[in-house]
Amino acid sequence: MDTKRISEGIESILNKQVTKEAEAAQVFLSYGCWADAQGYGGIANFFFRHVAEERNHMMKVMQYIMERGGKVTITAIKAPPADPTSLKDCFEKTFQHEVDNTNAIYEIVNLAHEQRDWATYNFAQWFVKEQIEEEKLVMELLDKLKIAGGDQATNESLFSLDKFIGEAPDDVPLARDATMDKPE
Ligand SMILES: [Fe+2]
Ligand SMILES: [Fe+2]
Repeated sequence: MDTKRISEGIESILNKQVTKEAEAAQVFLSYGCWADAQGYGGIANFFFRHVAEERNHMMKVMQYIMERGGKVTITAIKAPPADPTSLKDCFEKTFQHEVDNTNAIYEIVNLAHEQRDWATYNFAQWFVKEQIEEEKLVMELLDKLKIAGGDQATNESLFSLDKFIGEAPDDVPLARDATMDKPE
């Protein structure tokens, strides 16, 4: 009896997502090492914590494939890109990376919808929400860097920024949870 509950197409796109999450972890691992080498210990800490998040995403997708009777295929992952040229470049590339990943999630949602695979559609919604958080988190990094002076930031403001980012929580509040009493 065939107990596989996902199509070949869904299995394949989910397996690609497993690789993408592993690659995201690899990119942020390299950015963390770059940040540390520049002396930004707080920012390095932020990236290293983010690596664990991406690896958790990978595990969630793997578990889902297995839960639905599919087969996980572990492949090689790409080498991370070249080191960023500045903090601004680093945060901008991180943002772009998250947006690309959001688009990959949307492809899963589209295919699940097309195939009327509501289980996968439902599973993928967790990632839709997660990506709102991930994008917002990086938008905040870009905002804070801008306030600190951007490429013209002084060492003093970068010192504070690094400390702030190192201590910032991993979870950001979302609009859906906002009230007038608690805008964020
Ligand atoms: Fe992720
Ligand atoms: Fe992410």
